[in-house]
Amino acid sequence: MYLIDKKKYFDWINSNKFLTGCQKKVMIYLRKQLEKIYVNRQSNKQFYTYIENAYKSEKILIIAKIILLLQKFIGYKKAVNLVSEIKKNKMTDTEVLKIMEKTISEKGIKRNSNDVYNLCSSYKYVFESLALKYKDYIKENNIDIKKIIYLDIGCGNGNKTLMFSKSIGIEKENVNGTDIKSWGPYDTALHSSHQFNFKYVKEDGTLDYPDNSFDIITCFLMLHHVEKLDFLLGEINRVLKPSGRVIIIEHDCHDDYDKMILEILHKCFEYLKDKNNDDVSNSGYSSYHNWAEWDFIFDKNNFTYVKSNYIFINLEHSTRFDNIYYAIYAKK
Ligand SMILES: C[S@@+](CC[C@H](N)C(=O)[O-])C[C@H]1O[C@@H](n2cnc3c(N)ncnc32)[C@H](O)[C@@H]1O
Repeated sequence: MYLIDKKKYFDWINSNKFLTGCQKKVMIYLRKQLEKIYVNRQSNKQFYTYIENAYKSEKILIIAKIILLLQKFIGYKKAVNLVSEIKKNKMTDTEVLKIMEKTISEKGIKRNSNDVYNLCSSYKYVFESLALKYKDYIKENNIDIKKIIYLDIGCGNGNKTLMFSKSIGIEKENVNGTDIKSWGPYDTALHSSHQFNFKYVKEDGTLDYPDNSFDIITCFLMLHHVEKLDFLLGEINRVLKPSGRVIIIEHDCHDDYDKMILEILHKCFEYLKDKNNDDVSNSGYSSYHNWAEWDFIFDKNNFTYVKSNYIFINLEHSTRFDNIYYAIYAKK
């Protein structure tokens, strides 16, 4: 299991010239608050613990976030009712998921038809914004867009790989994806159908590419699933060109509520979408961090911070329950 060394992290925060005094105090305070109300997946009580504590501490936005998550699957009214039921009956996670499954089988997955996401997905939104900035960068640095070589690590179904490469205008033959053999819903059949160059990550975790191969490497929502994180970051550093950029999309996970809601979300996907009903408390590896911790992890693996921002389309979506953000790093 990858754990951040608390002392080194606090020393790094305190000596970081890019963080303000308030940021330093808050980041250290938040780290010390972890594991106060948290219960793990195996407890089978994550929904209840989250909701009960949020009500007890009158945390309105935290309550809103669990309603938003449930709404995504079963619609608003059912979501609000279910939150009350969970609290009143101290439901187990299995009981909650069974109710959600029944509602979905009767009504299908509910979509909010007025949602701004129907205009464009949050990923398309952010990829287009990144592309605009990247085009400035390649102009300033006299880089020929036709020669940009791109790798997406942990590409999954490859949808974001294609969406991102098209936004930037990367030539089709320069788009590469890599992934491990099987993970959740992604298997070898899916990986053999990709519309871009694809190679598996080697058995020992090595990336199957020569040193200094890529101008852009992306890791979309995958780093929190990587157990040997320092090893992979070493590999990314090796295959990235000296002038290259790594772009990550991650969950900005600050406290026990953030951590539990992300685990609840993964549990919902596994149970309701991947139909992995055998053991709801069992899942693959995940280790969530906040933005400062990701900066710390990248810094100690020889990357420099370039830029980061939250991903949301309008202010209403700034309360996304999965707190996604992007960060860009360069090789030191
Ligand atoms: C949540 S999925 C995200 C997939 C895709 N990037 C997306 O955003 O749609 C996590 C991905 O990380 C991949 N993954 C997990 N551990 C990995 C590792 N050690 N090296 C490379 N990929 C890994 C999984 O196979 C999976 O494709």
